Amino acid sequence: MKICKLLVLAFALEVLAIRWPWEDDPTSTSTSIQSATSSASSTARNEVKQDNPYVPNATDCPDGDIVREAIDIHDKEKEYIQKRQEITNDNLASFLLDVAQLSNFNALSFIDDNKNKHNITIGLAFSGGGYRAMLSGAGELLALDNRYGDLSLKGLGGLLQSSSYISGLSGGSWLVGSLALNDWLTVAEAALEDSGIWELDDLIFNPSGINVVKTVQYYYALYQAVNAKGNAGFETSITDVWGRALSYQFFNEDTSDYGGENVTWSSIQKSDSFANHSMPFPLLIANGRTPGTLIINENSTVFEITPYELGSWDPSLNSFVDLNYMGTTLDAGRPNSSQCVTNFDNAGFILGTLSSLFNQALVRVQSDSDLNFAVQKVLEMSLQPFSENNVDIATYKPNPFYNIENGNLKSIVSDPVLHLADGGEDSQNVPLYPLIQSQRGVDIIFAYDNSADTESKWPNGTSLVHTFQRQFADQGLGTPFPYVPPVSEFVSKRFNERPVFFGCDAANLTDLVEYHDSGVNETDIPLVVYMPHLHHLFESNKSTYKMSYDKEEIAGMIQNGFEVSSRGNYSDDRAWPTCVGCAIIRRQQERLGQEQSDECKKCFQSYCWVGKIEDTPQQSIGSFNTVGLTALLFSRSLTSNESGSSQSSTSSGQSQSQSSLSQTSQISVAPGSTFQTSTIRAGSSLQSATSSTSSQGIGSKSTWNGLLMVLSVFSLF
Ligand SMILES: *[C@@H]1O[C@H](CO)[C@@H](O)[C@H](O)[C@H]1NC(C)=O
Ligand SMILES: *[C@@H]1O[C@H](CO)[C@@H](O)[C@H](O)[C@H]1NC(C)=O
Ligand SMILES: *[C@@H]1O[C@H](CO)[C@@H](O)[C@H](O)[C@H]1NC(C)=O
Ligand SMILES: *[C@@H]1O[C@H](CO)[C@@H](O)[C@H](O)[C@H]1NC(C)=O
Ligand SMILES: *[C@@H]1O[C@H](CO)[C@@H](O)[C@H](O)[C@H]1NC(C)=O
Ligand SMILES: *[C@@H]1O[C@H](CO)[C@@H](O)[C@H](O)[C@H]1NC(C)=O
Ligand SMILES: *[C@@H]1O[C@H](CO)[C@@H](O)[C@H](O)[C@H]1NC(C)=O
Ligand SMILES: *[C@@H]1O[C@H](CO)[C@@H](O)[C@H](O)[C@H]1NC(C)=O
Ligand SMILES: *[C@@H]1O[C@H](CO)[C@@H](O)[C@H](O)[C@H]1NC(C)=O
Ligand SMILES: *[C@@H]1O[C@H](CO)[C@@H](O)[C@H](O)[C@H]1NC(C)=O
Ligand SMILES: *[C@@H]1O[C@H](CO)[C@@H](O)[C@H](O)[C@H]1NC(C)=O
Ligand SMILES: *[C@@H]1O[C@H](CO)[C@@H](O)[C@H](O)[C@H]1NC(C)=O
Repeated sequence: MKICKLLVLAFALEVLAIRWPWEDDPTSTSTSIQSATSSASSTARNEVKQDNPYVPNATDCPDGDIVREAIDIHDKEKEYIQKRQEITNDNLASFLLDVAQLSNFNALSFIDDNKNKHNITIGLAFSGGGYRAMLSGAGELLALDNRYGDLSLKGLGGLLQSSSYISGLSGGSWLVGSLALNDWLTVAEAALEDSGIWELDDLIFNPSGINVVKTVQYYYALYQAVNAKGNAGFETSITDVWGRALSYQFFNEDTSDYGGENVTWSSIQKSDSFANHSMPFPLLIANGRTPGTLIINENSTVFEITPYELGSWDPSLNSFVDLNYMGTTLDAGRPNSSQCVTNFDNAGFILGTLSSLFNQALVRVQSDSDLNFAVQKVLEMSLQPFSENNVDIATYKPNPFYNIENGNLKSIVSDPVLHLADGGEDSQNVPLYPLIQSQRGVDIIFAYDNSADTESKWPNGTSLVHTFQRQFADQGLGTPFPYVPPVSEFVSKRFNERPVFFGCDAANLTDLVEYHDSGVNETDIPLVVYMPHLHHLFESNKSTYKMSYDKEEIAGMIQNGFEVSSRGNYSDDRAWPTCVGCAIIRRQQERLGQEQSDECKKCFQSYCWVGKIEDTPQQSIGSFNTVGLTALLFSRSLTSNESGSSQSSTSSGQSQSQSSLSQTSQISVAPGSTFQTSTIRAGSSLQSATSSTSSQGIGSKSTWNGLLMVLSVFSLF
């Protein structure tokens, strides 16, 4: 079957390679495109759009600042959250009453009486991991959505409506993005066949199957958009292409202009569901990455993207730029003319930035047994030229942070180009970072981890460990995160096979408060509910690089995700919804000095990880080999009598970890580094497509042919 597709594609490529229009010089481009496409089909779009909606657009500059220092959350976010919490407060009261069914607890007065002191703030975080993470995350999210009214399914309906924030990274950002950009569609609607999105059996890079004519149109529209941007004087990179291609999965082609060409991330502000605050405030994550350097967890710069702005809280940047105007040439935050540039934040481009998988594909391809040998070879060969060019890095030129004074990292502020890469490259695959900023006042984070850490492609807790460690580096100062065990314990105690609560007792976090010394209180450190991806009804541990799912697979992935959130329809634990309720109210109870009910104490006994601190962490943590050191810092004792989820006790966690360790050494990509999978080797050549000017780099013949090869190969698995 695959061979067959490969042959068809090879043939198609052969045909296309002859006529590929943009191989010619730009002056004759439009006519050759016209003849190529109109001879192929009468329905082909033959006019070249001069004002392609993908192209950034000049407009008058706004009155206020375009770049600001990261002192507090944006005023508009503050306003949004205030309005949102009028809604979440009501919904949370109903959730605690009807779903959690906390006994002897007056939810209404608990929330109402204390709302002037603090509103209970819930954050949901959806990890990366390609379409696997998007679809499993979709099911996990569906179980929290009270708009999905099938009464035979017992989930945590209403938790989504009670949440203030939702964050997504890579595959998780596709989930958050496709819902937010489609007016907060439900997962159930998105998964319907006529939704026009998530049509993942329409192979992403070959959307019309063997229909070469439609495929040409698709690539033509894609090419035209990217080239129009280049011609308008903006630097383009493969992220533009990748983002355009991805967009066809996120926008209904019939109702949006060529797969959301005209949709920007900031246009979420204008959607009805954002205007009436019925969606949680969406946050996306990317990593800063300079070409030719490695990303390591301790000093990565983590960027977040909201509907209002893009930037980082990290000392290396410490700034945010107004998303609307981020295409403007700025010097020290100021435009040097009265004209500013809008429409730079194309939604597909942003989502492409967050999931620039190409280089990771190269890293993985050697060890991924899902891919057959021939495909691996082709993929390796076609990726090679891009790897040298740092293809996993998206190019944002102009750099809105050029010459700003708030950030201390020269490589960002003195570079006319801003380089961003997939948020998972620093190993924090669960996007917790925006939710642990104390300015957001988050009480509890539900951390949905759909990573493929182990050899069988299940998570092993490594993401949480990295977020924990990062707080002890300069970049993480001021962002306390509760204690978690080392990965070895996640695996040996099977904490990666059932929900676990971290940071249950705020009183035990005093050392962290003292370490950070940033004016936060213990109760300002969120409680973290870890929700690892798990096999329930469907073998959902698919490869991150599986780019095509048929209807049954999509349904299976979503249903399985639902079961992860609901603990198998409560069958793993009847008390699950109650225990979730106990966790949600915990920090507020601690703030008020209220004792937990016996019911909640029991829950905490079975779900909390209890680590005793025998040393202050700052003395040892901060050096590179922190995983091992973390292990020494705690004498661990789990008071829980539950050692693992009841239905997943077949394989031995220990042997699994051993084999994935040996796998790691095989795919070692950064010799000499202890963070083998967290460091992604960047090509040494700085003279890349991303740093050459305008459309020249992306438009050249060899680049396009190589790219097509990659795109086509991706469609095969
Ligand atoms: C550019 O922006 C102006 C003002 O916002 C708008 O009227 C115009 O239609 C835009 N042009 C394009 C090509 O989007
Ligand atoms: C909590 O939310 C309500 C809106 O329901 C708002 O009036 C109040 O100011 C908020 N409290 C705090 C401490 O922000
Ligand atoms: C969930 O439980 C209810 C009642 O126990 C049952 O009717 C329903 O079929 C279950 N659903 C699933 C998906 O197991
Ligand atoms: C994009 O274009 C479509 C149709 O051409 C239109 O319906 C939609 O409102 C536009 N979206 C934005 C954000 O301008
Ligand atoms: C908010 O807007 C959406 C989209 O129009 C609508 O479905 C929803 O009912 C609205 N919610 C409220 C509370 O008005
Ligand atoms: C990253 O951290 C290491 C060790 O702490 C340091 O040597 C290195 O200079 C840092 N790199 C950057 C870009 O800050
Ligand atoms: C504005 O910025 C451009 C690009 O950086 C620069 O060439 C030009 O000299 C600047 N103009 C002024 C008036 O500063
Ligand atoms: C999925 O997990 C099962 C059991 O954990 C394992 O047997 C299987 O090989 C895994 N599949 C993949 C693609 O790794
Ligand atoms: C944290 O808040 C609690 C309750 O509001 C208070 O008792 C405690 O002293 C505070 N701790 C610090 C370090 O401010
Ligand atoms: C907090 O510390 C107390 C006393 O050392 C201990 O009994 C309890 O188990 C700890 N709780 C957690 C969640 O670590
Ligand atoms: C755990 O202990 C509680 C009582 O403390 C008991 O009800 C429950 O059945 C135990 N669970 C397991 C899995 O042993
Ligand atoms: C956990 O996963 C990471 C990759 O995400 C891997 O490097 C590490 O070896 C794994 N550890 C164990 C004990 O499975």
